[in-house]
Amino acid sequence: AAATRYEAENAPATCDGAIESNHTGYSGTGFCNANNAVGAAAQFTVTASAAGTATIGIRYANGTADNRPADVLVNGAVVQAASAFAGTGAWTTWTTKTLTATLNVGNNTIRLNPTTALGLANIDYVDV
Ligand code: GCU
Repeated sequence: AAATRYEAENAPATCDGAIESNHTGYSGTGFCNANNAVGAAAQFTVTASAAGTATIGIRYANGTADNRPADVLVNGAVVQAASAFAGTGAWTTWTTKTLTATLNVGNNTIRLNPTTALGLANIDYVDV
């Protein structure tokens, strides 16, 4: 099935920081600029029509030279520890990173929890 897009700026998504729109190229009306701190997260609630393995696309930009790793949690469990969000060259250069995870039928939370004081990359959306 085609992916559904969940924008970081649309509830019930949460952003431990600010929704901003000062770097072009984002989808929707903005992106999550979470605070530069360990654990300053972006969280999405996504709906799966069936239980099983799903492809998760995370669109982000990181205008620094430094990786901004984050644990990826599904329904509270880490499915990828310190997953890389490498520099994209500019805050206006967005890229999509994909991973797979097992989802429950119905609602699931996907949480991006940064593991360093650099915090998260800017997060635009999640496609599931
Ligand atoms: C800059 C940039 C932000 C970014 C921040 C960061 O302030 O404008 O979009 O989130 O750096 O380093 O996290």
